[in-house]
Amino acid sequence: MSARDQLSAPTIRLSDYRAPAWRVERVELEFDLGIDVTEVSSRLFLRRDPAQIEPLRLDGEGLELLSIVLDGQPLEPSRYRQSEAELEVDGARDGSVLETRVRVRPARNTALEGLYLSGSRETGFLLTQCEAEGFRHITFLPDRPDVLARYTVTLRADKARFPVLLAGGNPDGAGDMQDGRHWARFVDPHPKPSYLFAAVAGRLEKIERDYRTADGREVKLVIWSEANVIDRCHYAMDALERSMRWDEQAYGRNYDLDVFHVVATHDFNMGAMENKGLNIFNAKYLLADPDSTTDDEYRAVEAVVAHEYFHNWSGNRVTCRDWFQLSLKEGLTVFREQQFSADMNSLALKRIEDVALLRRAQFPEDAGPLAHPVRPAQYSEINNFYTATVYEKGSELVRMLAGRLGEQGFRRGMDLYFERNDGQAATIEDFLGAVGEANGVDLSPYLAWYAQAGTPRLRASGRYDAMRREYVLTLAQHTPPTPGQADKRALPIPVKLALFARDGRMLPLQVDGHPQAGATELVVVADKAEQQIVFREVDAAPVPSLLRGFSAPVILEGMDSAADLALLLRHDADGFNRWQAGQQLATCAYEALREHGGGEAVEAWSEALAGLFAEDGVDPALLAELMTPPGEVELAEREREANPERIYAMRQQLQRRLAERLGAEAILARYQSLVAATSAQLDAVSQAQRRLKRRMLDLLCLLDVPRAQALAAGQYEQAPGMTDRLAALSVLVRTAAPQAAGALAHFRQRYADNPLALDKWFSVQTQHPGEPALATVQALERDAAFTLKNPNRVNSLYGAWTRSNPSGFHRADGAGYRLLAERLAELDALNPQIAARLATVFNGWRRLEPVRRARAREAIAALAEREGLSRNLAEIVQSMLHE
Ligand code: TRP
Ligand code: ZN
Repeated sequence: MSARDQLSAPTIRLSDYRAPAWRVERVELEFDLGIDVTEVSSRLFLRRDPAQIEPLRLDGEGLELLSIVLDGQPLEPSRYRQSEAELEVDGARDGSVLETRVRVRPARNTALEGLYLSGSRETGFLLTQCEAEGFRHITFLPDRPDVLARYTVTLRADKARFPVLLAGGNPDGAGDMQDGRHWARFVDPHPKPSYLFAAVAGRLEKIERDYRTADGREVKLVIWSEANVIDRCHYAMDALERSMRWDEQAYGRNYDLDVFHVVATHDFNMGAMENKGLNIFNAKYLLADPDSTTDDEYRAVEAVVAHEYFHNWSGNRVTCRDWFQLSLKEGLTVFREQQFSADMNSLALKRIEDVALLRRAQFPEDAGPLAHPVRPAQYSEINNFYTATVYEKGSELVRMLAGRLGEQGFRRGMDLYFERNDGQAATIEDFLGAVGEANGVDLSPYLAWYAQAGTPRLRASGRYDAMRREYVLTLAQHTPPTPGQADKRALPIPVKLALFARDGRMLPLQVDGHPQAGATELVVVADKAEQQIVFREVDAAPVPSLLRGFSAPVILEGMDSAADLALLLRHDADGFNRWQAGQQLATCAYEALREHGGGEAVEAWSEALAGLFAEDGVDPALLAELMTPPGEVELAEREREANPERIYAMRQQLQRRLAERLGAEAILARYQSLVAATSAQLDAVSQAQRRLKRRMLDLLCLLDVPRAQALAAGQYEQAPGMTDRLAALSVLVRTAAPQAAGALAHFRQRYADNPLALDKWFSVQTQHPGEPALATVQALERDAAFTLKNPNRVNSLYGAWTRSNPSGFHRADGAGYRLLAERLAELDALNPQIAARLATVFNGWRRLEPVRRARAREAIAALAEREGLSRNLAEIVQSMLHE
């Protein structure tokens, strides 16, 4: 663990922001690279803000200072002071040049921030990760995003061991040296903050493509990886080209360097990183081939490639003033990626997946001890704020604005935003200001969404007045308190709505003061604690469809008439809205089953789905989603004293009701017709068939286990690709099938050399529901392929167990909690970022039933007591225990 992790953690506040006293105009870096020791020389061209009197202070942690020279003069030790996190230098003035040389130790860097080694000492390669504050582990600099500099980077290394040398920017010469080493230089013409700096050195292979931008620049696209996986980079290359074209067409954004490098690594803390001109990817989001990649993973690769590419404008050309503005780049870029993915695939399915993710990951965050606004007001460790709230809720906020302005208006706004802030470090206010101004509207009311944590509840109730032929819709909003924010105000909530007649037709809408009289769908903005909307000339009590397209990230309450929801599920033409009605209905059905062992909602839900199942025209992928009730995490959210074991069992029972309604023979017949249609292709139709096939097999498990197991065993053997193979393996594991051991052994051997596939081998085994999961996890920990040093492997074991198998993790005896807490402490000593993120699975502990709650609290409290926790993990566990 580095020294800084043991420092007492100060709180950083948005309200304390001050412009930097010292800026850096230009940086020249020279690296003498080695696995054990790397030396970095830096030359900073400094500018001073005449209005400030601060001495020159540079960030730097864990750096061994070898020499320091100011304006050509070596500095006496009395003229500078190095503390654990800073270097303070006397005598610098505007225009000064500061030169330092430092030593760092890449092979010892297990935190994977700064300069580190990926893979083994013998064959691995060196790379950097700087966001958010990794640069200070490489050399001294004001490591903050509002200090933008032009970088010249020279890399030197042994040519045999490190034949490939890369840094961001355009290449500016390379050559051999006398001593068996070689060098390469890169110049980045675009000023950038230090978090976007990157360098890579090692034995890497490449694939290349020529690309011509819409504005006429010839660009070389290059994807790099270790030799054994270079054949799996082609899909990412195609996705990159599609992303570049899309950003030109949708937003008029062109790429702006002569080269675009992408590098894959197996050792990475997150998904990928948008370093200027040199994106670095977790291999999980770059490599793909049908034999080892599932359909879902293919889509994830396309999405992440696009996300990182889109950052070139939303993040790099316009960056963040400070880390409180993180959502300025992340929320916006997630939104752009979502639009792109919807264009490339299916609009409805993409929206379903995104909203499901929001409900599964962000709503619980917003409802628990770690709740924070999309723009947090304070933090202790910024790495803890790369959250679903900043990313996913942040994207929903942009979506609300885009919806409000319409496609052209939003594009106008984005054009002005990019133009006005190009080359600068901006704020959320800059964004709202530019986008609003381009449309002549004041978007400042939306700032409240960025500042207020918690998911608003929107309660809707309708009343039909036959005499006046009016339908009155009452919308009331309220946001529950979150830590540190007791009082909430009303927010502008855009509610897209429609009214349906009983026969499934959409009604033309007549609302006073609303311009689009006669439209069948419109948006009302609910911005008061309570308000009413009056629809005129309504002939009979209508069925309201609210929050269409999920027009705002809120929890809708009160719309729980089973008959109404069933009608929408059957008749709404919009796939997403249909799914949303189905989810609401399934939730009602679940609760009816739990409270009364059944009821109207259960019948309505299974009946409506049986109707759709029998219809011809429904897209198989959509049908699979419609037939999936909300997940266990989402259902637990609705309870004050959740018992995950019971939730699992009730959800299974609900699905069994559906399976019974469809009948084993019909499910089997559909399964078999889908098997007959099976191909290994990646097109939408084939993917959709696989998705429904998997759903059929899961439903069959609820009626006839041996039959389902036999089919799964056959599917495992004949699977043409990973999607079918993994789905089959999952059934075998979850049902503890006699065939499971053989299939697992086969899988293990077949993918022994493929870490990403082996990760799936670990994950799938953690999915056995209930108590047995713990013993499996313990056995897997002892597997020769298990290591705490690789984030993907850690997540594939503990992440999959704790997040995707609640009934397996939340044991009543607390043994799951104790094991996790123990591992978190070990992991923290190696990689604080990964430990802290994994620790957030304890987030919902207060809403567990009393026995589990007590056990969870003990485990978290014991962890909090430990000596020497990182700032990352300490912040998470302390917030979690805070009353
Ligand atoms: N900015 C990256 C993204 O595109 C994510 C990121 C933040 C990251 N911090 C990181 C990636 C640390 C790797 C390591 O969302
Ligand atoms: Zn991002």
